[in-house]
Amino acid sequence: MGLFKNLFGFLSQDLAIDLGTANTLVLVKGKGIVINEPSVVAVKINRAGQEEILAVGQEAKDMVGKTPGSIKAIRPMRDGVIADFNTTEMMIEYFIKKVNGSSFLSSPRIIICVPYGLTQVERKAVRESALNAGARSVYLIEEPMAAAIGAGLPVKEPNGNLVVDIGGGTTEIGVTSLGGLVISKSIRVAGDKLDSAIMDYVKKNFNLLIGDKVAENLKIDIGTAIKLDEPLSTNVKGRDQVEGILTSVEVNSEHIREAISDPLHQIAEALKSVLEQTPPELAGDIVENGIILTGGGSLIRGLDKYLSDTVKLPVYIAEDPLLAVAKGTGEALNQIDLLQQTSYED
Ligand SMILES: Nc1ncnc2c1ncn2[C@@H]1O[C@H](COP(=O)(O)OP(=O)(O)OP(=O)(O)O)[C@@H](O)[C@H]1O
Ligand SMILES: [Mg+2]
Repeated sequence: MGLFKNLFGFLSQDLAIDLGTANTLVLVKGKGIVINEPSVVAVKINRAGQEEILAVGQEAKDMVGKTPGSIKAIRPMRDGVIADFNTTEMMIEYFIKKVNGSSFLSSPRIIICVPYGLTQVERKAVRESALNAGARSVYLIEEPMAAAIGAGLPVKEPNGNLVVDIGGGTTEIGVTSLGGLVISKSIRVAGDKLDSAIMDYVKKNFNLLIGDKVAENLKIDIGTAIKLDEPLSTNVKGRDQVEGILTSVEVNSEHIREAISDPLHQIAEALKSVLEQTPPELAGDIVENGIILTGGGSLIRGLDKYLSDTVKLPVYIAEDPLLAVAKGTGEALNQIDLLQQTSYED
């Protein structure tokens, strides 16, 4: 038993990484998810003018908006693209080394799920940072496919399945059949846009200036896509735009529903356009199978009902939607045939 366990441990040195704009997850084959942290890096400029990493992940996210001059908290991925190459590379290396250091992996094969629609240059940058961090080979997988696999959809069947992954930076919609993506669409409207819509709304309607994190908390705590039978409310602290003083106001779920209605409408429209482009045979399957939601954005209260009312089809939320893409990426490691169809080793 011991021998086999060791042997298995030795052989299973593959890693799957969900490089998300909001959260990065790392899964070790045979062990499951070992890292689940915000995609944030805090850097300090040293005397030589170089960037030095102070913290990565949750610790760095806690520094956002609270850092003194020489320290910057960076979100290197924005809107589904790599906004800061160097920092993205540092972050990937940091996470891989953190896993590697704790479990004796040597030259793992790594599969990375990247936002759909990265440019060749960006794909190359992601691949090279993984190689620099010690990967033996690197595969990339497209997010809608990883989401569909992670949601447990039978992607290899000759049967249409529709997945909508609402992350931090992008909403990716994909129709899968026979191991491939038949149609996919990515829009740069997801969790972050909801947060900024809330910031704008609170500023406009309450004259109150709030930061990213406060807006995100409002979204999570009282945000809703549909009218709630019992509205929720909370007190928000911020700076009064006119008086400049620190103050607090009461905000309720109806306010947030109004604040986020425009970006939610854009997501619904993107879904409609994918349905319109879906070939009739696959559309028939989707009517039967319904639509599956993954990603943190799918946790907005009532979003399933809102989308279902809009497109008149059943909508379901995947189990553990925040983990679906990482799980699907990990699953692809076990199915090399699927991997070769859905990604490439460039
Ligand atoms: N309970 C919740 N209600 C609403 N939104 C939530 C909830 N939990 C997390 N989110 C939002 O989900 C988003 C993060 O989701 P996720 O981790 O799937 O994104 P990501 O994979 O990093 O981004 P992307 O796929 O766009 O690169 C954030 O915008 C976060 O605020
Ligand atoms: Mg994602």
